[in-house]
Amino acid sequence: MTKTPKTAPWLLTPGPLTTSPTVKSAMLRDWGSRDAEFIAINRRVRERLVELAGGTGTHVCVPLQGSGTFAVEATLATLIPPAGKAVILVNGAYGRRMAAIFDYLRRDYRVLETPEHVPNDVQALAQCLDTDAAITHVVMVQCETTTGILNPLEAVGELCRRTGKALIVDAMSAFGALPLDARETRFEALIASSNKCLEGVPGIGFAIVRQGALDGSRGNCHSLSLDLYEQHRYMESSGQWRFTPPTHVLAAFDQALLEHAEEGGVQGRGARYEKNCERLLQGMHDLGFAALLPRKMQAPIITTYYQPADPRFDFSAFYAALSERGYVIYPGKLTQAETFRIGCIGRVGVAQMDGVLAAIAAVLDEMGVENRSPDAGVA
Ligand SMILES: Cc1ncc(COP(=O)(O)O)c(C=O)c1O
Repeated sequence: MTKTPKTAPWLLTPGPLTTSPTVKSAMLRDWGSRDAEFIAINRRVRERLVELAGGTGTHVCVPLQGSGTFAVEATLATLIPPAGKAVILVNGAYGRRMAAIFDYLRRDYRVLETPEHVPNDVQALAQCLDTDAAITHVVMVQCETTTGILNPLEAVGELCRRTGKALIVDAMSAFGALPLDARETRFEALIASSNKCLEGVPGIGFAIVRQGALDGSRGNCHSLSLDLYEQHRYMESSGQWRFTPPTHVLAAFDQALLEHAEEGGVQGRGARYEKNCERLLQGMHDLGFAALLPRKMQAPIITTYYQPADPRFDFSAFYAALSERGYVIYPGKLTQAETFRIGCIGRVGVAQMDGVLAAIAAVLDEMGVENRSPDAGVA
C-alpha cells in the first residue's frame, strides 16, 4: 500500500530544506558499498568539497554518517587532544551546543559569550588569548543559525594566525553560500553538512581538515564511530566507508554539488540567497514586522522577527495556517524574546519569498492582527 502523495510544502527553515527534483531522483537506485561506481562518487564528492573550501593540497574531506552535530562532535573530539584547551565563541544555540559537547568529552574549555543579537567579540578573544596561554584552539560558528547573525570570521581567523592558535569553524549553515577559503583564512577544520547551502538531502556531515592536523590526531578521539582519524584512514586505504555508507544520500549529494557548480559555485548560490533574503526582509518590513538584526549583521541564510505584541497573534495558529498554504517556517530559538524565523536557503527563489509574504498577509488578516510590531519594551 502506498500513501497518497501530498504536494510538498516549501521548507523555509534551517533544514531539512527543499531540494531540487533532480537531487531527489538521484536516490532512485540502490548502490552496493563496494560498487566501483559508488566509490568513484565518494571520491568525487570529497574532492569537490575540498576544492570548494580552497583546500586542495592542504586539506582533506572526512565525511561522516549522521546529521551535522555528529560531525561537529567528531571533529572536536578528534582534533582537540585531551590535554588541549579551547575557547568557544558563543552567541546562540549552536555555540552553546559545542560547549555541551566539551562537557561530554570532559575536555577543558572556556566560553566567550555575547548576546544573541551581537557578533563574537574579537577584542575580548584577543585579551583571552593574551592572558590564557593554555588555549590551543579557537572554536566559532560562522553563521549562528539561532538568529541568522554573521560572525566576524576573517578577524578571528587573522587573530588565530597571528597568535598561532588552531581555528575550528562550524560552517554548517554557511558553507557553499558564504565564502570560507583555506587560502585566505587559516583554519584547522571547517564543519558542514549535505543539507544546508549545498542543497543535498540530510544524512552526511563532513569536516574539511588540514592534513597535518588530522595526521597528528591519532588516539585523541574517545569514540570508535566518531573518530575522524580512523574514518579517514579507512577511506583512504579502501575508498570505502568504515561502516554502512549512506549510499542514497551520497548519490544525491553528488548531484547537488553538480547543481551547485552549475549555479556558479559559492558566489552564484550566495547571490540567489542574498536576493531571497533582501526580498523577505523588505516584504516583512512592509507588513509591519520588526527584524531582530540590523541588515549589516544579517547573513542571507535565515531571518528572525519579533512576534507581534497584538493579543490576536498566536504563533501556533500562524504556523499551522502558513503550513496549510504550503510554507513551513520555523519557531524562534532565542532565550530572550518571542520570535520566529523564516529561512531563505534551499531550492527556493524570489517567487517563494513572494509566496510566503502573500500567505503571511492573508493569514494575519484572517487572524485580525493589525499591529505587527513587538512590545515597545522588546523592540
Ligand atoms: C550552525 C549550526 N551548527 C550545527 C547544527 C546542527 O546540525 P544538525 O541539526 O544537522 O545536527 C546546525 C543546524 O541547524 C547549525 O545551523
